[in-house]
Amino acid sequence: MSQPGAAPGQGRADAAVDWARVRSDFPLLRREVNGKPLVYFDSANTGQKPAAVIEAVDGFYRRHNANVSRAVHTLGGEATELYEDARRKLARFINVRPDELVLCSGTTFAINLVAYSWALPRLKAGDAILLTRMEHHANIVPWQLVAQRTGARIEVVELLPDGSLDLDMLRVKMTAGVKLLAIAHVSNVLGTVNPVREICHEARKRGIVTVVDGSQALPHRPVDVAAIGCDFYAFTGHKMCGPTGTGALWARREHLEAMPPFIGGGEMIREVRFDGTVFNDAPRKFEAGTPNIAGFAGLGAAVDYLEALGMDNVETREQELLAHLDEELAKVEGLRVYGTAPGKAAVVSFLVEGAHAHDLATLLDIEGVAIRSGQHCAHPLLQWFGIGATCRASLAFYNTHEEIEAFVAALRKVRGLLG
Ligand SMILES: Cc1ncc(COP(=O)(O)O)c(C=O)c1O
Repeated sequence: MSQPGAAPGQGRADAAVDWARVRSDFPLLRREVNGKPLVYFDSANTGQKPAAVIEAVDGFYRRHNANVSRAVHTLGGEATELYEDARRKLARFINVRPDELVLCSGTTFAINLVAYSWALPRLKAGDAILLTRMEHHANIVPWQLVAQRTGARIEVVELLPDGSLDLDMLRVKMTAGVKLLAIAHVSNVLGTVNPVREICHEARKRGIVTVVDGSQALPHRPVDVAAIGCDFYAFTGHKMCGPTGTGALWARREHLEAMPPFIGGGEMIREVRFDGTVFNDAPRKFEAGTPNIAGFAGLGAAVDYLEALGMDNVETREQELLAHLDEELAKVEGLRVYGTAPGKAAVVSFLVEGAHAHDLATLLDIEGVAIRSGQHCAHPLLQWFGIGATCRASLAFYNTHEEIEAFVAALRKVRGLLG
């Protein structure tokens, strides 16, 4: 494994991290796009991968490829070990027990698992599901499907003008009928970091089950799920330096035991007879079929990588980059940022007067700059702002101050072309 440019440890932020060396761990960041050095500012969409992760996936297929939990041969044992090792590493990374972690394809699957297996059998007409205005579609649509089938209703907590959650409204809306609160830890559009620990504590006092969408938190800050005190925590591997098609759902043991399987098939059973099937214990009973074994070998390596870097270091680095980006963008005339909550993550959604978001993003691509434009899988949030699309620049620790300057220079140039 190539070593990131930092001493191992999850400890305090370490000013001595060699960020240039860290960046050199990411082969893709060396490429050019349209003859220009790539500036990749789309990490909220998917993160880039260090060589260690790419090598772990490659190494799995070159040396260990076999199915998990089925074969007694050596390769089968190695593949199973790599898969289970990823579970243990992820559990340690977020401070939970490995047997409470269901490995799956990502946040979307994880939230659907809670929706179909926990909520669908329990909710009924008159119950409410509480969401926030800033949720990603993956944390809206599954609940709408549950609501349609159970007669439960969806309630929405709105935002304050800076894009932070209206916590007073949240408290008022936590009424007796509310059975479940589903909330993003960090918004993928605004960068708002929700005080999930306090919120989950309040919800628990009122008997409300909490589902936290950690997709945009885990890649960017230390996360202690046990300390948050939620019931479910969902996340995705590809945003945290891991391969696509990987992720997990953490759930309290009592929920996992009470929940019926969501998808049936091999691996999730102990015995199958035509007169009845005995399911495996959780978390296996939720992991039917052949998983993305190579992907989890890669995700295990991603956790090693991030731990060696230190998530405090990652957070500090990204906050420094964000401060620089904010400063540079403030100098661009006619630019409006959507989401300015204090302590926000390094995600900046913006519009420039007189320019359509897609036009800006397309012209920036010609300059080698990759940002996202559109609705960011958050239609209700953009409806609240009364706009059709934004540009979104989202940073990661492997970005540089020089890239921020190149991005803002390119933005000025293309804005000039759009008149
Ligand atoms: C906040 C948030 N939730 C959920 C998702 C969905 O993740 P995935 O597509 O990996 O399942 C994303 C991805 O953009 C996200 O940003």
